[in-house]
Amino acid sequence: RMPPLAACYNLLDFESVARQVMKKTAWAYYSSGADDEITLRENHLAFHKIWFRPRVLVDVANIDMSTTMLGTPCSIPFYVTATALGKLGHPEGEVVLTRAAHQHQVVQMIPTLASCSFDEIVDARQGDQVQWLQLYVNKDREITRRIVAHAEARGCKGLFITVDAPQLGRREKDMRSKFSDAGSNVQTGDDSVDRSQGAARAISSFIDPALSWKDIPWFKSITKMPIVLKGVQCVEDVLRAVEAGVDGVVLSNHGGRQLETARSGIEILAEVMPALRERGWEKRLEVYVDGGVRRATDILKALCLGAKGVGIGRPFLYAMSAYGLDGVNRAMQLLKDEMEMNMRLIGAARIEELNPSLLDTRGLLGG
Ligand code: FNR
Repeated sequence: RMPPLAACYNLLDFESVARQVMKKTAWAYYSSGADDEITLRENHLAFHKIWFRPRVLVDVANIDMSTTMLGTPCSIPFYVTATALGKLGHPEGEVVLTRAAHQHQVVQMIPTLASCSFDEIVDARQGDQVQWLQLYVNKDREITRRIVAHAEARGCKGLFITVDAPQLGRREKDMRSKFSDAGSNVQTGDDSVDRSQGAARAISSFIDPALSWKDIPWFKSITKMPIVLKGVQCVEDVLRAVEAGVDGVVLSNHGGRQLETARSGIEILAEVMPALRERGWEKRLEVYVDGGVRRATDILKALCLGAKGVGIGRPFLYAMSAYGLDGVNRAMQLLKDEMEMNMRLIGAARIEELNPSLLDTRGLLGG
């Protein structure tokens, strides 16, 4: 019943296979967005509003798609973003993603709410592989301080503080499917989880809705890891992030799972980069985007606009759930193949050559 892995020709193919073969609860948790899922759909569709303006007669015999993110060399400008509850999709959970990330030399962001323990995911690291930590901030700051200190001691190279989830969005598909089976050994320090509200709400009650800009100096005082705010959604907050002295932002709406009818990351990027350039601030922090990235052309559009890299979530979960490690490896390889071809067709042999003049963004900017 399941198509062979070789029949998956792109990341969207993994999604349709996963939909057929995954347990209903797991599919509901991974695939759901908030409310009517308008932002969820927009995330990918927004890329279709941008067109390329390729250059011809550029020597594209040798393509180099490597780059750096927060100082870490990466073979291609995407990272595996943090997604909770990896064991819903695969019995081994997040360590499958760790292995694929190693194979392809990309960074993995470890979720606070992983199914595997943090140490298991770190122990699965090989060679000089790099991981970051995604942080949900606990109401008890001592717990948070310990998590951050432990992550730094275990070699994490970036702290991504999720700032778009003071309360979990309403993911109705997930709520209907009544989380009962394991995402299992997630440790929230809260035994009294309410499972009637779906997986997401069951595990997120510890997150502090009082988190504010005032807390940023404290984070800087407890770690030497670069600090990145994940889930910033407008230029005002990006400028504030620069002033707060953080090292980066992820323009993201949490995969359409939080505020419904929030804008796509790529649309926010088009607002943010000109304002940073105008102030000469574009080198003061690294700007990342996630949400709806499914094709190398999506990655290229984000990079042309000025992103340092993009995060990819669901496609790797789907590939892992359907085909395990082989699936995730193939998904990453497909992106690399697409990337090489499309850089040739755009007329850019290296990442440094990507720039806004390679795009027509009039559709995005509503011109
Ligand atoms: C997420 N995301 C997320 N983000 C975060 O900061 N902490 C988390 O625990 C999770 N958990 C999570 C679970 C699942 C199942 C999904 C799909 C997403 C959001 C994630 O990091 C990222 O912003 C989006 O997934 C990007 O969109 P795509 O690539 O899934 O379209």
